[in-house]
Amino acid sequence: MATDELQSPLIPPRPRRVISAAAALSVAATLALVFLLVAGLGPFSGTSCRTSPGSSPPDPVGVELTLLAAAHDKGAVCLDGSPAGYHLQTGTGAGSRSWVIHLQGGGWCDTVRSCSDRTMTYLGSSKFMQKQVNFSGFLSNDPVLNPDFYSWNRVLVRYCDGASFAGDSQHEDGNGTLFFRGRRIWEAVLDELMGKGLAHSKQALLTGCSAGGLATLLHCNDFRARFPQEVTVKCFPDAGFFVDAKDLSGQRSMRSTYDGVVHLQNVTQVLPKDCLLANKDPTECFFPAELIKSINTPTFILNSAYDSWQVQYVVAPDRSSPDES
Ligand SMILES: *[C@@H]1O[C@H](CO)[C@@H](O)[C@H](O)[C@H]1NC(C)=O
Ligand SMILES: *[C@@H]1O[C@H](CO)[C@@H](O)[C@H](O)[C@H]1NC(C)=O
Ligand SMILES: *[C@@H]1O[C@H](CO)[C@@H](O)[C@H](O)[C@H]1NC(C)=O
Repeated sequence: MATDELQSPLIPPRPRRVISAAAALSVAATLALVFLLVAGLGPFSGTSCRTSPGSSPPDPVGVELTLLAAAHDKGAVCLDGSPAGYHLQTGTGAGSRSWVIHLQGGGWCDTVRSCSDRTMTYLGSSKFMQKQVNFSGFLSNDPVLNPDFYSWNRVLVRYCDGASFAGDSQHEDGNGTLFFRGRRIWEAVLDELMGKGLAHSKQALLTGCSAGGLATLLHCNDFRARFPQEVTVKCFPDAGFFVDAKDLSGQRSMRSTYDGVVHLQNVTQVLPKDCLLANKDPTECFFPAELIKSINTPTFILNSAYDSWQVQYVVAPDRSSPDES
C-alpha cells in the first residue's frame, strides 16, 4: 500500500540512477538549479521523485506513524480535523546527531470542494494514512542503498493540509468545518522533533518532493532559524520548482491554482516579507522564482527540465486544449 500511496499512478516507476547526495550537498553553498531528465512527479496524488520513500523497497523496514501529541490544542490538524503525523526512524552511531526531514508531497487543493474531497483520503485525514510506511531510497536504513543518510535520524512528515504546510485558516459550511492548518502542522512537528533530539543535532537537512519541495522552499529560512549557527543546516527541494508559466492557450493556469490555495488557505504568514513589501501579489510570492530570492540558507534545487507533471498540468492542462474552449 505504501507504494501505491506514495507513487504517482500517472507515471510508471523509472529505473533509479544513483546520485551522491553528499556530492549534492557539497555544492549546496550556492543556489543551484540542476536540470535532470530523470525525475518525474505527480503532486496531485503522490510522486515518483527520487527522494520519495516507498518506491520498490528491496528490504523495507516498516516505520510507525506517530500522531502529533496535543494536535488539537495546537490546531495541528489535517483538513478533516484529525491529528497530523509523521514517521520517525531514530539514527544510530555516527548518524545519531544528524537529521533528514522529508516533507511529503501530493499537490494542492484550491477550492472548498477539492479540499473537502481530500478529507476522504490520506491527503486530508490521518484516518486514511497507513500506520506503517516502508522507508526506502533516501530514507532507507540500508548503507548500500543510502550510503549518505542511512544512519541519520530520518523523518517523513505526512502531508494532509493541501497547501504545502503553509495555510492557517478554516472554513465552515453546512457540511461542517474544513481545517487549513498546514503552518501549525509544520510548527508542531518541528517542536515535537526538537524534543526527540533534533534540538541536539549537529547537522540537519530539510527536504521534500513536489508540493513538499515547495514547502521546503517556503520553510527553509524558518528551519535554519531554529538552530544555533554552529549547526549545519541545508535545504533540498526535489521537483518543487513550479513555474509561473502560460499554458498553451496563453492563460496562467498554475497561477490560478495557486491563487485559490493562497487565498482559501491563508498562507500569507509564510511568504517572504521582501516579496510582499515589494507590493507583489501574494500568489506571485508563492512561486519558487520569488521564494529563492529570500532564502539565505544553502539550498540545492533538483528539478527536471522536462518535468512531466509540469508539462501536463502547467503547460498543457486540459482546459488549454482547443477542444475544450
Ligand atoms: C513493507 O514491506 C514488507 C516486506 O516486503 C511487506 O510485507 C509489507 O506489506 C510492506 N508494508 C507496506 C505498508 O507496504
Ligand atoms: C491568517 O493567518 C494569520 C497568521 O497565521 C492569522 O493571524 C490570521 O488570523 C489568519 N486569518 C484568517 C482569516 O484565518
Ligand atoms: C455539502 O456537500 C455536498 C456534497 O459534496 C454538496 O453538494 C453541498 O453543496 C455541500 N454544502 C455546502 C453548504 O457546501
